[in-house]
Amino acid sequence: MKKDNILIIGANGQIGSVLTQTLRSIYGHNNVIASDIRPKAEETGPFELINVLDRDRLNEVVEKYQINQIYHLAAILSAKGELNPLGTWDINMNGLFNILELAREKNIKKVFYPSSIAVFGPTTPPNQTPQDTVLTPTTVYGMSKVAGEYWTNYYFLKYGIDVRSVRYPGIIGYQSMPGGGTTDYAVDIFHEALKQQKFTSFLSEETELPMIYMEDAIRGTIELMNAPLEQVKIKTSYNLAAMSFTPKQIAAEIKKHIPSFEMTYAPDYRQAIADSWPNSIDDRIAREHWGWKEAFGLPEMVHDMLKNLR
Ligand code: SER
Repeated sequence: MKKDNILIIGANGQIGSVLTQTLRSIYGHNNVIASDIRPKAEETGPFELINVLDRDRLNEVVEKYQINQIYHLAAILSAKGELNPLGTWDINMNGLFNILELAREKNIKKVFYPSSIAVFGPTTPPNQTPQDTVLTPTTVYGMSKVAGEYWTNYYFLKYGIDVRSVRYPGIIGYQSMPGGGTTDYAVDIFHEALKQQKFTSFLSEETELPMIYMEDAIRGTIELMNAPLEQVKIKTSYNLAAMSFTPKQIAAEIKKHIPSFEMTYAPDYRQAIADSWPNSIDDRIAREHWGWKEAFGLPEMVHDMLKNLR
């Protein structure tokens, strides 16, 4: 077991709740401190209430547990962010600044900061989007992630803070629910397929987006965090890919397991966000640098989701 004391900010969210459990199984139950702005539904281990905009509170918790690694997951996502642009910028950017400054002052040796496919935009090459390419996001969330990538790189160059990051595609898992994202339909669809054998998609049937299964996302994140520093040459954020599909394709895959399943389409304001994002991602650099490789494609993911949700 490694002697690390880890703090997870945003531990009740879609990624955080699964990551907390996995990190506890690796580092020990009491060495992984969960935190969130809202209390947990049920207590499963050490937990602290933290608003990431509250510097004093962050200091207090880091000192209390002698934290030396932080996973900073708290953010407002793409769709919800559009309802309150300036508030989203405030939380996403000032939250990150608080973590970066904390890392500098308290000698935190490693930080994880998630970026997203939302850093790309309508003028980015949409197919097999390269690592180094045009970043023209049209959402506040995407703008905050682009700026965040540059700031984490800056803190590495200027202060040597080892911040590691991936540009997550849409994440699909049975363990938790996403909130406020544009890729959320790909999780909701499973719950509705099992409950009522039908689902109305808020994206049109041909909207192809990059996605990843939760197991792969969590494993990849921990592998990146444990890779030797010299392998982690990209200090902005790594492209990460596993699968790409359209609502029509995932519906067809679900129908193989639930023949009565029917899909209808009612695109809303999230369609424009999805249209501005890539169809597929070229993540060869992550594969070369630190050995990234997914285990789940679309059929494996659908099979595993339905098995676990049943
Ligand atoms: N899944 C996120 C969203 O849709 C992208 O990072 O906002």
